[in-house]
Amino acid sequence: MSDEKQYRVYLCGGSSCTACGRDALLRVLEDELWAWELESEVEVYVSGCQDHCDYSPNLKIWPGPYQYKALTTEAIKKIVEQHLLNNTPVAEHLADSSHRR
Ligand code: FES
Repeated sequence: MSDEKQYRVYLCGGSSCTACGRDALLRVLEDELWAWELESEVEVYVSGCQDHCDYSPNLKIWPGPYQYKALTTEAIKKIVEQHLLNNTPVAEHLADSSHRR
């Protein structure tokens, strides 16, 4: 049996995304994962620049990749509830370059 988590979330920690509130978004992300009891299913990382600085702040989810852009507190909550809890990507926050089903 594998103890690999179902999802990996890479929140961009590059300078542009950090200036756009990455630290606060990380706290929201961790709070939401805790609230939905998803800590055992989701691994969170802070990555380097994801080359989408014009759309900061950004995060990427694997399997995918699903590239989410222009994140807000509300977007993070929606991504956790829809994508990570119910396996349904949140179309309105996906970058154009993102993998789509
Ligand atoms: S700093 Fe986040 S995409 Fe470049």
